[in-house]
Amino acid sequence: MSLVLDRPLAVGSAPGKLILFGEHAVVYGQTAIAAAVGLRSTVSLWHHDGPTHIRNSSFDDFRLRRAVSMALPAHGIAVDIGSELPPGRGMGSSASIAVAMVRAAAALAGEQPEREALFERSLALERIFHGTPSGVDNAVALSGGLLRFRRGPPLELEPLELAQPLHLVVLDSGSPGSTAELVAAVRAARPRVDRVLDAIGRLAEQATGLLDDHKALGNAMNDAQAMLVLLGVSTPRLSELCSLARDAGALGAKLSGAGGGGVVVALAEPDTVPAILAAAGRREVPAFALQLPIPSASPEPT
Ligand code: PMV
Repeated sequence: MSLVLDRPLAVGSAPGKLILFGEHAVVYGQTAIAAAVGLRSTVSLWHHDGPTHIRNSSFDDFRLRRAVSMALPAHGIAVDIGSELPPGRGMGSSASIAVAMVRAAAALAGEQPEREALFERSLALERIFHGTPSGVDNAVALSGGLLRFRRGPPLELEPLELAQPLHLVVLDSGSPGSTAELVAAVRAARPRVDRVLDAIGRLAEQATGLLDDHKALGNAMNDAQAMLVLLGVSTPRLSELCSLARDAGALGAKLSGAGGGGVVVALAEPDTVPAILAAAGRREVPAFALQLPIPSASPEPT
């Protein structure tokens, strides 16, 4: 048949993220700092004679089908969804799929929407996954880079500059956390935990001024982890991974994302990164190093 059928009708992609400061507090209007990572999700739309359906997906989830039916025409499309991001690890896999999907849908319709419109559309999809997302994951998936985010209104989105790269090690607890459940648990614990949420937000705001003082930034990450423990979203396993990283020389470590499982992010001097990776390896903890800023995490030109 024709070569045209060998090419997708439209493709969209977007990076995942790590939250460095401010998770949970960001839901209630506090500041968060988050960074895009080099792992991406991609949505490809193919011509199909029949109802629109998911043809291939790197994970199976009924919410993906609802997102597809919200974002795409009901007929004529086979959808392939690929993600390099592990689901449920606090690395923004659902938001990166949501952004990739609205980008693909816009390309299919021949539209070039403003970033604000893509943000709102992707947030509508993200609500299918997480109920009441702050939008920080979607903002990072759309803009790339390192950002200071406040949901507003008005929304505040400030790209943050680094004089020196940040060297991070991500350690995977091996178990997923449910963002929707953890956000609901924190909501149910209010107003008892409001002072902790305020402290997490204040620390995120202070950390925007510490990005080039790595020792102070690492201490702030340790403080953030202590606050997340108080909030009730850490687990013994996540605390253990923080200790593992610190004992191997990390300047600081904390859970990243909603908690309950997922990943720990550790800040390190470049020459201690191998020791942290080796310590993780000895305990059979999956871990990888990354550096911010990540040029490959830059957004698509939409
Ligand atoms: O677990 P993740 O990657 O979806 O991150 C959630 C971050 C929260 O602050 C807990 C929720 C949100 O919507 O900001």
